[in-house]
Amino acid sequence: MKLNNKVLIAPSILSADFTHLAQEIKSIEKANADWLHIDVMDGHFVPNLTVGPVVLRWIRKTTSLFLDVHLMIEEPSRYVEQFKEAGADSITFHREAVSSPEKLIHQIKKLKSKVGISIRPKTNLSTIYSYLHLVDHVLIMTVEPGFGGQKFIPEMLDKVRTLNKVLKDKNLPCKIEVDGGINALTAPLTVKEGATILVAGNSIFKEKNRSLAIQKIRSSTQNLGSIDNLS
Ligand code: DX5
Ligand code: ZN
Repeated sequence: MKLNNKVLIAPSILSADFTHLAQEIKSIEKANADWLHIDVMDGHFVPNLTVGPVVLRWIRKTTSLFLDVHLMIEEPSRYVEQFKEAGADSITFHREAVSSPEKLIHQIKKLKSKVGISIRPKTNLSTIYSYLHLVDHVLIMTVEPGFGGQKFIPEMLDKVRTLNKVLKDKNLPCKIEVDGGINALTAPLTVKEGATILVAGNSIFKEKNRSLAIQKIRSSTQNLGSIDNLS
């Protein structure tokens, strides 16, 4: 069975070789990636540190790809202007990191950026129901945020399915993005449940042939998978 939804592939630079970042980005641009996913970590919200607006500004100069910034930081409202100014096309923050998501969503929208809201694997979907009509996408973490190369958590498929149903019932255009452990086996399972934006770090950057790696994921989403494939 063919799936018609246009699926976007967003390689995460977390798994790239940072000593050759420009070449790494060019390689996935040539390989027809749709977006570039940038993981921002502050050592507080997650136990890891990555890049900030300074690096993003250089990335912006090297590519015309849509820059999908995933903020895994506390107090995201302090930094969204800087990330937008540095070149972000989309800014996603974590529900767990803010007490007033609505305020932050409006702050990001005012910057003329796309906006996403994300939840950790253990966070209940109901915590974001009130914001679904305000955001462009929901990022469902399919691993515990913080590190690349982790194993996909199969229970997250139920979360994607439920979210997709809620969005359909409410007739909302909000998209579903999945992040963590996405490869040619797990991608079709998430697409089957309604995901249309797929973040993939390790399964793309660990392969020398980036075109093949992206092609494998893309073509896997043309076929409905079974959870049995995961074992
Ligand atoms: C994890 C990050 C992911 C990560 C995905 O906290 O949000 O974007 O880079 O990497 P893989 O695809 O290797 O799980
Ligand atoms: Zn991410």
